[in-house]
Amino acid sequence: MPIRNTRERWGSLSQFFHWLIVALILVQAALGLTGLLLPLGMEKLAVLARHKSIGLTILGLAALRLLWRWLNPTPPLQSNLKPHERWLAHFTHVSLYILLFAMPLTGWIMSSARGFPVSWFNLFQLPDLVPKSRGLYDAMVSTHAALAIALAVTVALHIAGAIRHHFVLKDDTLRRMLPFGRMTLCALLGMMLSAPAARAAAGLRVSGPTYTLLGSQSSLTYTFIQAGARNQGRLKSFVANFDPAAGRLSVVIDMRSFDTGDSQRNDLLGGKDFFDVAQYPQSRFTATRIEKAAAGYEAIGSLTLRGITRHITIPFTWRTATVQGRPVGYLSGQTVLQRLDFGVGQGQWHSTEWVGDDVTVHFSLVLTPSESQ
Ligand code: HEM
Ligand code: HEM
Repeated sequence: MPIRNTRERWGSLSQFFHWLIVALILVQAALGLTGLLLPLGMEKLAVLARHKSIGLTILGLAALRLLWRWLNPTPPLQSNLKPHERWLAHFTHVSLYILLFAMPLTGWIMSSARGFPVSWFNLFQLPDLVPKSRGLYDAMVSTHAALAIALAVTVALHIAGAIRHHFVLKDDTLRRMLPFGRMTLCALLGMMLSAPAARAAAGLRVSGPTYTLLGSQSSLTYTFIQAGARNQGRLKSFVANFDPAAGRLSVVIDMRSFDTGDSQRNDLLGGKDFFDVAQYPQSRFTATRIEKAAAGYEAIGSLTLRGITRHITIPFTWRTATVQGRPVGYLSGQTVLQRLDFGVGQGQWHSTEWVGDDVTVHFSLVLTPSESQ
């Protein structure tokens, strides 16, 4: 069978696009509905991540399919059709094409508006289409669901048309879209299924060594990979003391102050499986030695998180300046921690398949000599 369409039948590439997209839509509907019904948990995360990746694949395939259609002659509709049947066939095909774009785009906007970045089979992350917005998210949830119903109705109409052509009008419409030999939909389905799928608390003041945290200008944030996409959060309340001369650095974090930007996710992360903030409300880093490193310094000490203490070394840079007549110190850097070392991720969350083990902590502390506060 030729790759290109002829006036009599669809070429192999057009057929490939058609049946692959059909198979993907079936899987997609099953994943979408399953994802909707599952309670918040690892399984829901995995199902929806796969749903998003396949949805984006459909978006790409639909674009390629249209491009290929534009480069090819399209077999004209059968001549035995009445005008209203021709109109109905055109209407159905155009609606299907529109839905093939609208479904993934509304899904993608939905995820972006919720603040959940989208990745393609954990391989690379896609940009957010819109900034975070609760109103837009709600609107997209309804639109995505309404479009799913519209797609189901249109496909039913489309299948009814194909069956009518084959069994009632007994013309070639269905045959010319069917691949030769035994290349079945199941094969396409099989192919698809094998696809990879702190801000500081204002005004906190700690007595003691030389430098303490200055007001609300500091930040403590973290990023981690979830379903292939980089997610972030921040810790809003912490205190820090730094004594460069004695080589002491201490940071105490109020774990109840973390914010993922999503209340549902905050509840999950604060719970027993993750930070268990009721049991372990504080996390603490204490450095007992500061050493000069190739670029900047290293704070050598221990981190206690979720009741577990580990020895760690954190690289950082330190500089001082005079701002509006008073000395200010800037301490910043980042370090990668393994969440499982601290028991963050119990039960089903112990797996790193969907939520990575590495968590990058970024800190930017603005400090001032304590006596000048
Ligand atoms: C052709 C492509 C797609 C089809 C046919 C499809 C279909 C569906 C269906 C049937 C549902 C369950 C009912 C509903 O709430 O809408 C659903 C849910 C969902 N879809 Fe899609 N979808 C597609 C693409 C996407 C894409 C590309 C994304 C994101 C990047 C996405 C994200 C979601 C999410 C997050 C839900 C759960 C909604 C909720 O929690 O209420 N979908 N989808
Ligand atoms: C999710 C399901 C489906 C979608 C999204 C879909 C989409 C489409 C689209 C957009 C076209 C127009 C092709 C063009 O003009 O470029 C088309 C053609 C066609 N589809 Fe489907 N389809 C689906 C399922 C099916 C099924 C299950 C059958 C068979 C029972 C079928 C049989 C056909 C046939 C025979 C044609 C060719 C019509 C002609 O030659 O005039 N489709 N499909």
